[in-house]
Amino acid sequence: MNIAIIGTGYVGLVSGTCFAETGNNVVCIDINEDKIAQLRAGKTPIYEPGLDVLLERNIKEKRITFTTSLEEGIKDAKIIFLALPTPPGKDGSADLQYVLGVAKDLSNIITEYKVIVNKSTVPVGTAEKTAAVLAENLDRSLFDVVSNPEFLREGVAVEDFLKPDRVVIGTTSEKARKLMDELYQPFVRQGNPIYYMDERSSEMTKYAANSYLAMRISFMNEMANLCEEVGANVDWVRIGMGSDNRIGKRFLFPGVGYGGSCFPKDVQALAHTAEEYAYDFKILKSVMKVNDMQKLILGKKIKAHFGDLKGKTFAIWGLAFKPETDDIREAPSLYLIETLLSEGARVKAFDPEAMDNVRAIFGDRVQFVDNQYDALDNADALAIVTEWSEFRNPDFEKMKSSLKQPLIFDGRNVYALEKMQELGFHYESMGRKT
Ligand code: UGA
Repeated sequence: MNIAIIGTGYVGLVSGTCFAETGNNVVCIDINEDKIAQLRAGKTPIYEPGLDVLLERNIKEKRITFTTSLEEGIKDAKIIFLALPTPPGKDGSADLQYVLGVAKDLSNIITEYKVIVNKSTVPVGTAEKTAAVLAENLDRSLFDVVSNPEFLREGVAVEDFLKPDRVVIGTTSEKARKLMDELYQPFVRQGNPIYYMDERSSEMTKYAANSYLAMRISFMNEMANLCEEVGANVDWVRIGMGSDNRIGKRFLFPGVGYGGSCFPKDVQALAHTAEEYAYDFKILKSVMKVNDMQKLILGKKIKAHFGDLKGKTFAIWGLAFKPETDDIREAPSLYLIETLLSEGARVKAFDPEAMDNVRAIFGDRVQFVDNQYDALDNADALAIVTEWSEFRNPDFEKMKSSLKQPLIFDGRNVYALEKMQELGFHYESMGRKT
């Protein structure tokens, strides 16, 4: 099938590449000329495991091409995906200017029936708004607007896209449904479901899923904080409660708060939607409040230990908001760095992928090192902020000899408590009394 994807960000590029991988002809469109030139040369602008290999293969097979021309790009497409940014506006609502702007442009150039799909996370009612904009210039028989939210996670995006737990498609048009079904059948061959529903329910499903997951994290973060007070170990509590099938073991890890481009923005946007409908969504407000607090928790623990941080040096392992990505949007590391610097401390940081992005924010106020152990040289303590695999089994003796004292603040519970005690570290983690 011929497909066009407008927007080559995270979702657009992964979707486009994976649709090409399943045999479709895909044209990716973006207004950013540098990005398009880079993609034509087979280079991905984002770090995402496995994506570069798929991209290269599909470029070679000519199943995926790139253009800055909207008209050229959508000419032969039966389905057009909008994978455009929906940044939070000043009031927390999702800003739809890009989605609706492109819809307006499309309304001037579409000449035969096309399905227009909202792939970006967009508030309830956006399919209707998009259709209304298109209908200003375009006969209603020439298009349908479908909601098809994307549930992929950064770091495992290719796998998530190729083998989704489910596909959600919001449409009330039989014609659009048929085309979407044809496109998605190859992705659900293992029997995972495609759920068809109305547009509004589909739009809401995406926000419900992300907000619920964010709520689980905030709940576990508070549980961890309480475990520290009462002298319980949150690791045991997590396993014990997660073994109930109704709860499940995944996504119950306490930490330094959720970050990234999705949870913070989506929880806020859903809260805004609730406000618009004069509904007081109390849990959502608490989820956000807890997360704001949790992002500061490592800094608080460090301050509680040292008192005055002036002149102290801290090593940080992990800057990305989670492992296997270079994404630092809403990353807890940024809050910790800010706290340490404002208290007069020095920061030496290491991350396998995200250092350039953090350098762009803090410049030489932070010292970046090429190796995780270099960060420890003469540091007063280590703070672990992102649980990259390479931090899991380090050379502890080397760590001890490099640090001024064997002191670790672990925001991700990477190590076993007993082991750290045996090794002689003073080890503060989340929800586990030292
Ligand atoms: C999230 C959702 O998991 C995806 O399903 C969704 O498609 C995506 O948002 C989106 O809306 O585009 P992502 O932001 O890539 O994906 O990252 P997650 O793996 O979900 O992690 C989000 C945050 O939660 C991270 O900061 C992570 O450290 C934190 N987290 C996750 C925890 O603190 N504890 C956990 O147990 C799990």
